[in-house]
Amino acid sequence: MTNHRIRKAVFPIGGLGTRFLPATKALPKEMLPIIDKPLIQFVVEEALDAGFDQLIFVTGRGKEAVENHFDTAFELERTLQERGKLRVLEDVRACSLAPGSASYIRQQEPKGLGHAVLCARHLVGDAPFAVLLADELILGGAAPALTELVQTEAEGNVVAVAEVPQEHVSRYGILAHRGCSGKTCVAQAIVEKPTPEEAPSRTAVVGRYILSPRIFNYLERQEPGPSGEIQLTDAIAAMLKEGVPLTGVHVSGVRFDCGARDGVVGATLFRALQDPTLAAVVRDTIDISNRERIAS
Ligand code: UTP
Repeated sequence: MTNHRIRKAVFPIGGLGTRFLPATKALPKEMLPIIDKPLIQFVVEEALDAGFDQLIFVTGRGKEAVENHFDTAFELERTLQERGKLRVLEDVRACSLAPGSASYIRQQEPKGLGHAVLCARHLVGDAPFAVLLADELILGGAAPALTELVQTEAEGNVVAVAEVPQEHVSRYGILAHRGCSGKTCVAQAIVEKPTPEEAPSRTAVVGRYILSPRIFNYLERQEPGPSGEIQLTDAIAAMLKEGVPLTGVHVSGVRFDCGARDGVVGATLFRALQDPTLAAVVRDTIDISNRERIAS
């Protein structure tokens, strides 16, 4: 794959986020913060770090907050300037994306991740492109996860993978493979959300993809899966069957499935423990909680 041509990154953010209701009734799931940074900002920074400078957001109803987050907030910035809050002003300004670098397109109905990616077809054009899911947070690696994918010399589609517990396989697309060589494994097949009994391995796709634009031909023909949604995994599986290779790359960071509550708690603690002041708060809270438990 000629990685130097890849400049476009797609962020599908059209999902309903039902696992976080009622928090996501009016707030996009992708704006849930891990302490002080919303999920979507982590993946946008990851894409920019990996050299992607054309960012395509596939939004849906009620997702306007994402667009506002990456826009200039003129009045807020002026107020912060007047009040001398310069450090926080710098953080706010850092969220603004370069003029013309972001496009927003609406997925009119949440018909699944595959359908969301298909909505970006005309903005992507015919070069390979990246897809990043904001609810998969990958922190603290040797390099940002998408950079590790870009650096992989592999033909066809490339996805980030991680080994997950058997009881979690039904949350993910799972690769069938004959073992890995170093960080990479060549997939024989990929199955969307298998039961633990059906799963061909515990090697799960974790929200980062570099895809051939041929995926769109498969997505437009793709029938909805058992959940009624058009799945990206099913279209990748169909391509693989027709000879387009699929490589999984074990990324080096610690990953958190922030589409579920356990992931958000884990990611929040992980970030908190990296900050001496917040780490002390975590330890104190655990002490208090232990004392209450013993007393009751
Ligand atoms: P999820 O499978 O986590 O679905 O989507 P969801 O709707 O966001 O959340 P739950 O399961 O109801 O709690 C994975 C990613 O795909 C996007 C989501 O926004 C998320 O980033 N997505 C999903 C879309 O863009 N459109 C869809 O129709 C479905």
